[in-house]
Amino acid sequence: MSRVYADVNAIRGKSWYEYNKFRIEWSSPDRYEIVRRLGGGKYSEVFEGVDTVNSERIVIKVLKPVAGHKIKREIKVCATLAGAPNCIALLDVVRDPRDMYHSLVTEFVDNTDWSSLHSRLTDPDIRHYMFQLLSALDFVHSHGIMHRDIKPANVMIDHQRRELRVIDWGSRNSTTLASITIPVSGSRQYKSPELLVGYKRYDYSLDLWSTGCMFAAMQHFFRGSDNEDQLLKIMRVLGTEKFDAYLRAYSITLRERSRGFTGKPHPAIPRALGPASSPRKTSTSPPPTPSPSSTASCASTPASGPTAAEAMAGTYFGTVRVEGGRKEGEALSDSGFASM
Ligand SMILES: Nc1ncnc2c1ncn2[C@@H]1O[C@H](COP(=O)(O)OP(=O)(O)O)[C@@H](O)[C@H]1O
Ligand SMILES: [Mg+2]
Repeated sequence: MSRVYADVNAIRGKSWYEYNKFRIEWSSPDRYEIVRRLGGGKYSEVFEGVDTVNSERIVIKVLKPVAGHKIKREIKVCATLAGAPNCIALLDVVRDPRDMYHSLVTEFVDNTDWSSLHSRLTDPDIRHYMFQLLSALDFVHSHGIMHRDIKPANVMIDHQRRELRVIDWGSRNSTTLASITIPVSGSRQYKSPELLVGYKRYDYSLDLWSTGCMFAAMQHFFRGSDNEDQLLKIMRVLGTEKFDAYLRAYSITLRERSRGFTGKPHPAIPRALGPASSPRKTSTSPPPTPSPSSTASCASTPASGPTAAEAMAGTYFGTVRVEGGRKEGEALSDSGFASM
C-alpha cells in the first residue's frame, strides 16, 4: 500500500477512474495533415503533423484497431491530465469516418534522441530534467494515476527549450490505481523487482524506481538479459540485505535462487560518490557507481523509498527548486483538453 495518495481514487469515486463510461467527442481528421512518421509499434503509429487551422506543429498518434476500452483508457488519462506539469497536452481526438482509426492529437515536442542526448547532458541539465519528471509524477500520483512505463522513449526532451514532457499515457501500461491488477509489459531495464517477478499489487513507487533507472541509464547500468539476470543486477547494486528487505516488503519469495542469488551475501555498492562531488563518467570510464540520488529511488524498500515530492525536496535539487513543480491552485480543466 502506497504511503501517499493511497485513497485518491476511492475519494473521487467511480466517475473519476472508470474510463469505460468516459464520453468522448470525436472530431473529424480533416483539420490535420501528416508530415512524417515519428515512431510506433504494435499498438500505434505516431506522426508529426500540422494543424491546418493555425499552422501549429502537432503529433497525431493513430491507435491501431485494438480493444475499445484501451483507446478509452489512454484518452481518459490524457484528458484527465490537462494542465498537469510536464505531461503531454492532449489537443484533440479524431476518428475517421469509417470508425476504423482513432487518433490522439497532442502537442509536438522537438525531441532530441536519448542516445545522443544523455552523453551531452551536464550535471545541472540532469537535475533540471529529473526535477521536471518528478513534478509530473508527483502531480499524476496525487491524482491517483501511475504511468508504469517511464523510460527514455516515453520522456520527450526538447533540449533547446529545456522542456520535458511525459508521453504515452495508456495504450497498454498506464492506468489509474483502480485497476492495478493488469500485468505490465515494457522495458525490462526500467522495471522494479516487484514487476520483474510479476507481482500485481504494485503502487506509485514503481514510477520512482523507473525514474531512478533513467538516471542510471545515462551510465548504462542495470541492463539484464532476462528478468532473472535483471534481478541479479539489481541485487548486486543494492546488496543482499537491502534486496531481501525490498522483496520482504512485498512478501515476495524468489522461487529460483540460482545464478548468483545463492552463496555469499553481496555487499551493497558503496554510495560515497555522487553527482555533487564527482564529475559524470564518460563512456570510457570504469564501471559507474550509482549516485546517491539514483539509488535513493531504487535502493530502498518501497515503503521507505522517497515519493516524487520527497525526492524533489532533497538537497540534490536545491538549485532547481526555484519555481517548484506544481503551482498552487492549478486545477485540472473540466473539458479535459488543453487550450490550443
Ligand atoms: N508529442 C510527441 N512529440 C514528439 N515525438 C513523439 C510525441 N509523441 C510520440 N512521439 C514519438 O513516437 C514514439 C511512440 O509514441 P508513444 O506515445 O510512446 O507510442 P507507443 O504507445 O507506441 O509507445 C515515441 O517514442 C516518440 O519517439
Ligand atoms: Mg511509448
